Amino acid sequence: MKYIIANWKANKTLSESQDWITSFTSLLTTDTSLMESLTQNRVAIIICPPDVYLPLLSTGLSNLTNVHIGAQNVSAFEKGAYTGETTAIHLKDYATYTLIGHSERRSNFGETDEVLARKIQMAQAQSITPIHCVRGQQDALFEGVSMIAYEPVEAIGTGKNMPAEEVVAKKKEMNIPETTVFIYGGSVSEQSCSEYLQKPEIHGLLVGGASLLPESFLGIVRSAVSI
Ligand code: PGA
Repeated sequence: MKYIIANWKANKTLSESQDWITSFTSLLTTDTSLMESLTQNRVAIIICPPDVYLPLLSTGLSNLTNVHIGAQNVSAFEKGAYTGETTAIHLKDYATYTLIGHSERRSNFGETDEVLARKIQMAQAQSITPIHCVRGQQDALFEGVSMIAYEPVEAIGTGKNMPAEEVVAKKKEMNIPETTVFIYGGSVSEQSCSEYLQKPEIHGLLVGGASLLPESFLGIVRSAVSI
């Protein structure tokens, strides 16, 4: 099975999010072979919107098989006097996954391996699966994490996606266990996705820019099932 994950980052208004749900649902439900692939677990879709739209997405997509909701971040604290935080306890009613340690969080918000270890713990305590984003060997890997997204910083949002061969080589260098779901992210597009999806070592894609339009995002999902 391949995982195709949408990371909207801090994009979209409420009405844009509603429009995305409407077009995504109609494009998906009218594509019988794609619907079948989801039912047969050949592909799983995870949508990670900004937190405020989690209830909207979770309700709006609840009828679709194998379409899951993820958060982009989670608090390192459980609950209490932490103004502005969204905790795993808040997320668990809407999301079954969360990104952890995206490079934009590491660079803009100073997230360290120590903080990320706590975030992973918080998510897992609420049965939310962390998708641990790493930039390369400089980032710690944690025991018990079942999904890792490798995103080289120079490939994010630049159009300079890393060749799939190099991604596979990096996976070896980082000693990612065989049992871990290994995802690539960084300028994945409808045009560039196939080379990754063809590699048995790469189990899915984390898609930023190309996930903002349902057409291009579903184009990538279609490639995942046509390989
Ligand atoms: P991009 O973002 O596809 O726009 O490069 C990927 C990500 O940062 O998750």
